[in-house]
Amino acid sequence: MIVKEKDEKWWKHGIVYHIYPRSFMDLNNDGSGDLQGIIQKLNYLEELGIHAIWLSPVYQSPLIDCGYDISDYKCIHPDYGTMDDFKQLLNEAHRRNIRIIMDLVLNHTSDMHPWFLESKSSKENDKRDWYIWLPPRNGKYPNNWRTNFGKKAWKYDPLTKEYYYHSFFWEQPDLNWRNPEVKKAMFDIISFWLDMGVDGFRLDVINMIFKNSLFKNDSIKSLFSNKEVFSRNQPEVYEVLKEFRLLLEQYPDKTSVGEIYTLPPGNAKLTTGFLGNGSDMLHLVFDFSLIFSFWNASSYYKIINKYYQHIPPKGWPCFFLSNHDIGRSVGRTMFSFHKQPKAKLHATLLLTLKGTPFIYYGDEIGMENADIPKHKIKDLYGKIFYPLYKGRDGARTPMQWDDSLNGGFTTGKSWLPLHKNYRQVNVKNQAETHDSVLNVYKHLIELRNKTPVLQHGEIQFIKLKQKGILCYERTLETRKVLVALNFTSRKKTVNYESSEQVEVLFSTHRIQHFNKDTIFLNPFEGIVLGIKMRKIDINCC
Ligand code: GLC
Repeated sequence: MIVKEKDEKWWKHGIVYHIYPRSFMDLNNDGSGDLQGIIQKLNYLEELGIHAIWLSPVYQSPLIDCGYDISDYKCIHPDYGTMDDFKQLLNEAHRRNIRIIMDLVLNHTSDMHPWFLESKSSKENDKRDWYIWLPPRNGKYPNNWRTNFGKKAWKYDPLTKEYYYHSFFWEQPDLNWRNPEVKKAMFDIISFWLDMGVDGFRLDVINMIFKNSLFKNDSIKSLFSNKEVFSRNQPEVYEVLKEFRLLLEQYPDKTSVGEIYTLPPGNAKLTTGFLGNGSDMLHLVFDFSLIFSFWNASSYYKIINKYYQHIPPKGWPCFFLSNHDIGRSVGRTMFSFHKQPKAKLHATLLLTLKGTPFIYYGDEIGMENADIPKHKIKDLYGKIFYPLYKGRDGARTPMQWDDSLNGGFTTGKSWLPLHKNYRQVNVKNQAETHDSVLNVYKHLIELRNKTPVLQHGEIQFIKLKQKGILCYERTLETRKVLVALNFTSRKKTVNYESSEQVEVLFSTHRIQHFNKDTIFLNPFEGIVLGIKMRKIDINCC
């Protein structure tokens, strides 16, 4: 039974942990993760201190896109277990005050979904209009729209001699949200899960569900970048999201987070638009801008600040640094050196910013992107584009629990190889190592969970004369904390004057690097101070 927190909504102060179910824990030892495996690890998650799990799809699916191609939205894929297993997971999680957020794909189904099978069976079928069908134009594609990986987004069906539209693989036909029956069917699915007791949804590529009704050509700049796009970001989405919010509000304490698909460098204005006025559309939105940033304090500042500025007054931010598509933050180009210190600095950022933090499984031990040999690649993108792009498997490798065979994930044949560092980088080792990434995460989570100012406090960035440090204050009533993050590989100092007593609440380096009026920062050190500051100034060291 979930105990209600005193004041703020759980999805504002809570920490969400993103599980890729196929890779978390395999209890039946068939080589891929399952719901019973997650249940077995709930104690670990409870101890870590998180408040909710976002579960990547576990529905029935032909697994062309690892479950993001759903063929039955009300059924659990047998690889993961049964509906009873799911209900057990829900109960066991709730018993520990951990919520479950389901992944929900509204934009498309699998081509094996009965709706699509009907739809493609004839032009006269009742479900024909549930998907987007168009006749050829001058014997060719209906327009120039392309998939997210740059190929033509129309698939010809010889039976009915028309094309259907697919934003992703051709096995993932897009639904026609202009048909009210589609919305009705999807809202019925949403109610089904809410009635069961799930706590919210992560909405897959939600900005793509409506397309321009006239099917205007996109004006294309290059293969992966468009000047003007008509195949997504249509205003009709807002109306559906308002209805979706009303549906969620019929149940207590639910939440939603939307994945807003954008190309680099991201688009905070667009993303935050899906929050509506802050209380009438999505509860949270994923903005990808930070993922596209260089490793650089001033770039982080600009991106985060811009995102905050666009959040509507009643809205709430959220942050993530890794996921199953974009890879692990420790693997991004600028991370090639100093991986572990940077992972700790990133953890400090994620857990001290104003906004709900999303932690991708394994990031809490600094798991890295693995290099998967060609013959073991599972992600279709990797198969298509190898060696130019090796796909997304590298960030989806099994969780590294210990140094035993397959990292304690399975005794069977793992569906993907583990990262070769699993004998050193694993939960067991790190739990026993004083200054491990895991212990940094644990301390920061504990600190955040017991420090209201870190959960709800306002944020204000502090401009420093010196480059390389990201510095901000969080304030709530009379309480204040100062966060200073040294993004460089050099020592830095921050000078300050304070009338109040200063207390080091946390440091990635565990050394109390400050005296009466100076904070000494080691390379890549992140520090959190409980402090009341009148003025801050900086000297170079
Ligand atoms: C989202 C998912 C991704 C999937 C795509 C198509 O971006 O995160 O994994 O491939 O949607 O459903």
